[in-house]
Amino acid sequence: MGTKTIHLHQNIKGRQVTLRPWSETDAETLYRLASDPEVGPRAGWLPHGSVEESRQIIKTLFSNTTTWAIVWNDTDEVVGAIGYGPSCDCALPAREGEPTVGYWVGRAFWGKGFCTEALQLMTDHIRHTTSIASLISGHFADNTASGRVMEKCGFRPTGETCTDPGLATGGDKPIRVWRLVL
Ligand SMILES: CC(C)(COP(=O)(O)OP(=O)(O)OC[C@H]1O[C@@H](n2cnc3c(N)ncnc32)[C@H](O)[C@@H]1OP(=O)(O)O)[C@@H](O)C(=O)NCCC(=O)NCCS
Repeated sequence: MGTKTIHLHQNIKGRQVTLRPWSETDAETLYRLASDPEVGPRAGWLPHGSVEESRQIIKTLFSNTTTWAIVWNDTDEVVGAIGYGPSCDCALPAREGEPTVGYWVGRAFWGKGFCTEALQLMTDHIRHTTSIASLISGHFADNTASGRVMEKCGFRPTGETCTDPGLATGGDKPIRVWRLVL
C-alpha cells in the first residue's frame, strides 16, 4: 500500500481482444448478447428484457473506470463485458477493500480464449496502475468454464463456498470462491 492508485480508463489491447469503455451506441449489441438466457443466469443476473434496459445498464452499471467492453480485434465487435469493483454489495468473503471481479462473453463466442485473455489483460492493468493487493471472485459450482478462466489467470480456490441471496438468479446455489494475489 502507499502507492498512488491511478484509474486510467484506457483501451487495453491484446492479441485477440481489446478492452474499451462502453458507449451508449453499444446498446443494441449488448441487448443481443445479454438477452440470451444461457448467459446472465450463469453469472447471477437476469437476461436483459429490452434494448432500453441494456442502454440504462451502459449508462449506470457500466459507466465507471473499471468496467470494459470486450471487443474482438478481428471484427471490432463487442463480444462481452469485464470489470472489477467494490465487494461490499456481494456475499463473497472479501478482505477489507478487496475488489471483486466479474465477466461474461456472448454464447456465439465461447471457447475461443476471449475471456481468459480479457481477464489476463485486466489483471495486468490492475497490477500496473493500482496498489490493489488481491482480487476475489466466485462462480456457481457447476460453472466449471468460469473456474477454468480464473485458474488460467492465476486465481486459486480459497476452499470457501458461499451463497448470495442478493443475486437475481441462483441465489441459493453454492458459489466457489477464488482469489488472485497480485
Ligand atoms: C465462463 C465464460 C466467461 C468463459 O468464456 P470463454 O471466452 O468461453 O472462455 P475461454 O475460451 O477463455 O475458455 C477458458 C477455459 O474454459 C474452458 N471451457 C470453456 N467452456 C467450457 C465449458 N462449457 N465447460 C468446461 N470448460 C469450458 C475452455 O476449454 C478453456 O480451458 P482450456 O484452455 O483448458 O481448454 C463464458 O462461458 C460465459 O460468459 N458464460 C456465461 C456467463 C458466466 O458464466 N460468467 C462468469 C460468471 S462467474
